[in-house]
Amino acid sequence: MSSAPAIRPRRLRQSPALRRLVSETRLHPADLVLPIFVREGVSEAVPIASMPGVVQHSLESVKGAVAEAAAAGVGGVMLFGVPETRDAIGSGATDADGILNVATRIVREEAGDALVVQTDLCLDEFTDHGHCGVLDPSGAVDNDATLDRYREMALVQAASGSQLLGLSGMMDGQVAAVRHTLDAAGFADTAILAYSAKYASAFYGPFRDAVESTLEGDRRSYQLDPGNRREGLREATIDIQEGADVVMVKPAGGYLDVLADVAAVSEVPVWAYQVSGEYAMIEAAAMHGWIDRRRAIVESVRSIRRAGADAVLTYWASELATWIRNGDEA
Ligand code: PBG
Repeated sequence: MSSAPAIRPRRLRQSPALRRLVSETRLHPADLVLPIFVREGVSEAVPIASMPGVVQHSLESVKGAVAEAAAAGVGGVMLFGVPETRDAIGSGATDADGILNVATRIVREEAGDALVVQTDLCLDEFTDHGHCGVLDPSGAVDNDATLDRYREMALVQAASGSQLLGLSGMMDGQVAAVRHTLDAAGFADTAILAYSAKYASAFYGPFRDAVESTLEGDRRSYQLDPGNRREGLREATIDIQEGADVVMVKPAGGYLDVLADVAAVSEVPVWAYQVSGEYAMIEAAAMHGWIDRRRAIVESVRSIRRAGADAVLTYWASELATWIRNGDEA
């Protein structure tokens, strides 16, 4: 009896052309979003030690980064502000002349219609205690008082020209509150990206360097427990009901199951955020020569797309988009 197998999946893996033809997941520059940090009071870009290759931009240098992303075909940029001063309520976030809002106007002007300008809508970059909301007298994050701050942020961000507001604070009711406020003020066309399933993750570590925020305590009273899969789907479902235009899972690499769950049922686009720690791990291993940098980057983003993300926020967006355009992503 012959032992030759009748079924040979390897048949389709014989050549690059065959593999390309049967590939299930393709990367496209337009499905990538570049997060950008803009720092107040600097005249030149400042490197971020724990994120080699990523910088805090000045209001001048950010223009070049946006032009580069647009030229590479990247779909959008997500702006984060790094203010010079912070206080208990994050006043800088709602100041029209605060760093994030000034940067938004500059980036909108630079970007034109080439890509979508998005802004982080959260207080942690602007508060002196580092929490995503305002605190009550006991020191706990006050959900409903924070919603009032988010409403104010939404109005100033929309007026500054942000096209998609990234609600990343994980307060209950934040999508409904911001949607209602935007609509009532004539910003019905400003879209909402809800960071729906945002986990209390150690992989945000380098981001805290990037925005120079020091956190008192932790975020476990509002971000999700990393062990909870069902709850991630629940949060996304609630945000869709509240009117989110896009929902997101974050971090990405460690949460592909949650991403697949959300993608299976969502009526709106589902995105994922490949966060600072995911970036730093690959860069660090590559610097040691322990990993093939380009292949690891491509594989990590492709896996996030395979699990169900329609688009990916990644610090490699411009570089990866350039590889894709050059056919170097295989
Ligand atoms: C909140 C926010 C954070 C990140 C994006 N938006 C920090 C946090 O929730 O602790 C992290 C992004 C990253 O790590 O790359 N403004």
